[in-house]
Amino acid sequence: MTEKKVIFLESVDSTNRYVLDLPDEQKSQGLVVRAEEQTAGRGRLGRRWASPRGKGLWLSVLWRQVWPAEKNYLLTFAAALATARAVEEVTLCQTEVKWPNDVLVGRKKVAGILLEQRGSSEPGRWLVAGIGINVSQQQAEFSEAYRQHATSLREACRDAPEKEKLFQALLAQLDFFYDLYRVGKEETLRSFFVESSNIWGERVRIRQANRLLEGSASGIDERGGLLVRTGEKEVAVYAGDLILQEWWAEKEEKALENQ
Ligand code: BTN
Repeated sequence: MTEKKVIFLESVDSTNRYVLDLPDEQKSQGLVVRAEEQTAGRGRLGRRWASPRGKGLWLSVLWRQVWPAEKNYLLTFAAALATARAVEEVTLCQTEVKWPNDVLVGRKKVAGILLEQRGSSEPGRWLVAGIGINVSQQQAEFSEAYRQHATSLREACRDAPEKEKLFQALLAQLDFFYDLYRVGKEETLRSFFVESSNIWGERVRIRQANRLLEGSASGIDERGGLLVRTGEKEVAVYAGDLILQEWWAEKEEKALENQ
C-alpha cells in the first residue's frame, strides 16, 4: 500500500468541506482527512449527516479524476465497495451495498458515501469521497426519522470493531478500488457492485423530488443508473432514494396498527 497522508482533526464542520477548501499546494492524491466529530456533516441530497464525537469513522479521501464526468459514479461505487469490504474484514459481519451509495448490514444502513467536487468536472481535477461509518451509536441515538433504516456496527454486528483497525482496513481497500477506477476497469467495478447488492429481482421504490417509481430492480447501466422494470418497460434512474420493500412494508404495517 502506498503511504497515505492523513490529517486528523478533533472537530470540523465537514471533512468534505475541509478537503475541498484546502489550497492546491496541500492537495495530494489519496490524502485523507479524518475527524473525531463533525458539526455539520453533509449527506446526500442536501441532508445532514449526524457525526457524533467518537461514535463513527468520519473521513474524506481526495482523488484525482481520471475519466470524463459521466464515469464519476464509479468512484462512489469504489468508495462503497471499499467500505463494505473493510467492514466485513474487521467485523466478519456480512454487508451489502445499496445503490447508489450506501452500505448495509442486516438490511439497515451502516455507512454512506458522498462524492463532491468544486467547479467543472474534468479529467485531472480533484474529487473528494466522503465516507461516514456508524460504529458505536445505540439505536436510540439515531434521529426518529432515520432510526428505522439506520444502525451502527455495534448494533448490527453485536460488537463495535476497533476504529483504528477499521480505518487501516479501509485505507487499503480504498487504494485497491481507486486503482480499478484509475486503470479503467469499469466493467469490473460495476459487476463487483452488482454482486455485492442483494436487491435484484426484488420490488423496490425510488423516491425522487416529484415522483415515486415502483418496480423490480434489474441491474445497473453503463452510466451508473439503477435499472427498474415496471411492467413491460425497463427504466434507468440516476438520482433518488432507493426504498427497500421491507422498509415500506414496515411503515404500512405500523400505519395499520395505529388505525
Ligand atoms: C449519505 O449517505 O447521505 C452520505 C453520507 C456521507 C457522510 C460523510 S462523513 C465524512 C464526510 N464529510 C461529510 O460532511 N460527509 C461525508
